[in-house]
Amino acid sequence: PLFVTAGSNTEEPIPSLPGVSRWSVDLAVARAKEPVAAGIPCLALVPNTQADKRSDDGEEALNPDNLMCQAIRAIKDAVPQIGLLTDVALDPYTVHGQDGLLDETGYVVNDATVDALVGQALNQAAAGADIIAPSDMMDGRIGAIREALEAEGHANVQIMSYAAKYASAFYGPFRDAVGSGGLLKGDKKNYQMDPANGAEALREVALDLAEGADSVMVKPGLPYLDIVARVKDAFDVPVFAYQVSGEYAMIEAAAAAGAGDRDALVLETLMAFKRAGCSGVLTYHALHAARLLNG
Ligand code: PBG
Repeated sequence: PLFVTAGSNTEEPIPSLPGVSRWSVDLAVARAKEPVAAGIPCLALVPNTQADKRSDDGEEALNPDNLMCQAIRAIKDAVPQIGLLTDVALDPYTVHGQDGLLDETGYVVNDATVDALVGQALNQAAAGADIIAPSDMMDGRIGAIREALEAEGHANVQIMSYAAKYASAFYGPFRDAVGSGGLLKGDKKNYQMDPANGAEALREVALDLAEGADSVMVKPGLPYLDIVARVKDAFDVPVFAYQVSGEYAMIEAAAAAGAGDRDALVLETLMAFKRAGCSGVLTYHALHAARLLNG
C-alpha cells in the first residue's frame, strides 16, 4: 500500500502506522521504484483527500484530475513496470467517512452507491490503473463495474474484489492515513461482514466471481485465515489477503516492546498466509519482507 497526499516534496508520517508515511505525488513516484527493485509486482494506491475536497456524496472520486488520478498517471509515466491497484470506495472523499452515499437516517444506500463506484472505477481505469479493487462491500458492484469497463474500452483492466471484508477493529490506522477516522461516526456494519459469520464469506465470493471478479480478497488477514482456506478450497481462484493496518501496527508494537523479533514475526505471518492458500498478500511489510527474502 502507498498513501498519497497533496502538495510537493512532502512526507507525512502516520503515527499509528510507524514507518509508513503519506507521500506527495512527486515523492510517491520515487517510492514506486523501490518495489520494482525488490521484485514486488504491484502497489495499492490510497489518497488522503484534502478536507476542502470532501463532500457528502464524495464526488471528488469522479474528478479525472483528483489526487489518485494524478498519482496513477505520474507513476505509470515514470515507473511503467509497476502494477497499480486502486481502491474503489468513497471513504477517502466523503465528509462522513463512510464508503457510500447516505440516506436521511445515515444508512449507506446500496444501489445509488454502486452508480458512484462505477464512475470512480472508470475514472481510475482511464488514468491507467491495472487492477480495480472495490473495497466498499456494496452488493452488485462487481457486475456493474465489469460491464462499464468492457463498454468503455478497458476490457483488460482486472477486478480484484474485496469479496470477504469484515467489519473489523483492525482498520484504525488506515482510517488515520486517509483522514477518515476522525470523521467517521458509528461503524460500517450495514455493509461490511459480521466477524462471527464464516458462511456468508463464501456466498459473497460466489456472487463476486459470478459477476466477473478476476481474483478475490479476504480482509483482515491473519484473524481470518480460516476464511482464506475455505475460499481457496471452494473456488480454486486466486485468493489474496490484506494484512491490514492494525495487524501491521500490532507486529510493530510487539517488536518495539521487545515481545518478539520483528523479522521473524513478519516472515512467519506471511508464511501463514501462503500456507492457508493465498496467491499473494497485500501488506505494509512488503518491502521489508522482500528485502529479507532477497537476502
Ligand atoms: C476503505 C478501506 C479500508 C481499508 C481499505 N480500504 C478501511 C475501512 O473499510 O474502513 C483498510 C485497510 C487497512 O486497515 O490497512 N474502503
